[in-house]
Amino acid sequence: MPLTVAVLLSGNGSTLQNLLDRAASGALDVQVVCVVSSRAGVFGLERARRAGIPAITVPRKDYATPETFGEAIWSEVRKHSPGLVVLAGFMSLLPVPPDFRGRIINVHPALIPAFSGKGMYGQHVHEAVLAYGAKVSGATVHFVDEEYDRGPVILQSAVPVLEDDTPETLATRVQAEERDLYPKAIQLFAEGRLRIEDRRVRILPK
Ligand code: GAR
Repeated sequence: MPLTVAVLLSGNGSTLQNLLDRAASGALDVQVVCVVSSRAGVFGLERARRAGIPAITVPRKDYATPETFGEAIWSEVRKHSPGLVVLAGFMSLLPVPPDFRGRIINVHPALIPAFSGKGMYGQHVHEAVLAYGAKVSGATVHFVDEEYDRGPVILQSAVPVLEDDTPETLATRVQAEERDLYPKAIQLFAEGRLRIEDRRVRILPK
């Protein structure tokens, strides 16, 4: 039985597409059972519809607080009883309810804890890396808790920052890394091989 997954997104959905492609090729043992967007009209919703996956928008701007927004998101997600919730370019803070603790993961386009936290998302991250003058960046997959980008790290992979990089070229290099790293982490979860011990995530042997 494949692991059932809910995907939460806010934009283009290339992360979703990668997971759908990997699942279709048999490289990833998951079934995406629903897609929830925090923004209306984004291409990620269109990708879901094309794949025949139930997709719905819960607009962040319709809710006054993260708590009320979170309640609306979780009541949608619960309808599909996913085993795992995957954040795929989801740009809002989300309260973690007890029934999903340890079952939400995120990919961040930098090496956490560098260039992470509030305001550090998408292109802002790569701009900050270049402005700081860092020589490496990368991708991090981590469990999600109540703070931006703070939960225990599952996998990380580094890429070099090159002399002539722009935010766009660096983003492309980091996202290529994400394309392998995220499915790898999700497959480990699907195989029951991730164990959280305080801040450390142990990867159990097969
Ligand atoms: C991805 O690069 C992801 O790492 C980043 O947004 C992009 C989403 O692309 N996520 C964050 O910055 C989260 N803090 P997509 O909309 O095409 O999947």
